[in-house]
Amino acid sequence: MGIEAVYNTKTPAEELNHFEEIADEYERTVKALNYTGPQLCIQALKKCEEKTGISVPRNGKCIDIGAGTGMSGESLRSAGFTGVVDALEPSDNMYSIAAQKGIYSTRYSDMLSPDKETSVESSAYDLVLSCGVFSNRSASSGCLPEVIRMAKMGGVITIVMNNDFWKDGFDSAVEKLEEQKRVQVMYNDSFEGFFGDKTARVFILQKL
Ligand SMILES: C[S@@+](CC[C@H](N)C(=O)[O-])C[C@H]1O[C@@H](n2cnc3c(N)ncnc32)[C@H](O)[C@@H]1O
Repeated sequence: MGIEAVYNTKTPAEELNHFEEIADEYERTVKALNYTGPQLCIQALKKCEEKTGISVPRNGKCIDIGAGTGMSGESLRSAGFTGVVDALEPSDNMYSIAAQKGIYSTRYSDMLSPDKETSVESSAYDLVLSCGVFSNRSASSGCLPEVIRMAKMGGVITIVMNNDFWKDGFDSAVEKLEEQKRVQVMYNDSFEGFFGDKTARVFILQKL
């Protein structure tokens, strides 16, 4: 089954079931499509730090939202993030591959949803990272307040997603969160070559 089959899922349960089914072939499939999401997260974060002067402590506490098989966690470790990295990942089969990499401390198995808080602690993380998870499905723009809740005051939220979904409410949600002074937008750009012919949207918020 190709990775794009997830676009045909209609409910959170179907979406989760998709990842349960493709877990064993996930990394092979995305690598064949030259998936750059995990590297883009780090590149954008470093650019943002240089441009704005914000700095995420490399020994700080991070959470990887939709950690999958741990590719984004590997990217964090390669970039010198030595602190605790937790994972929010609802798929047991995806997470069982991630767990073997020895990166994550605590795994939360909740699924982000616009109308229900997860069990993740509030104001706990220096960096909340999410790569390839936000879309027009379960992790919609309505879940942005939930990931902001997890960050410490002054903490950083870095999101990489398929740019095709940016106009599905993410543009207006981010604008509104900034107007409400809940975050400051530190970085917002698109990059070609997310995977296959897809473009990535990368945005970085600082919690106020
Ligand atoms: C495309 S994979 C990305 C995995 C990893 N971040 C990477 O870049 O390789 C998406 C992951 O998000 C998880 N996921 C899907 N919907 C989610 C939700 N609503 N909340 C949290 N995780 C979700 C899936 O189980 C899957 O492991």
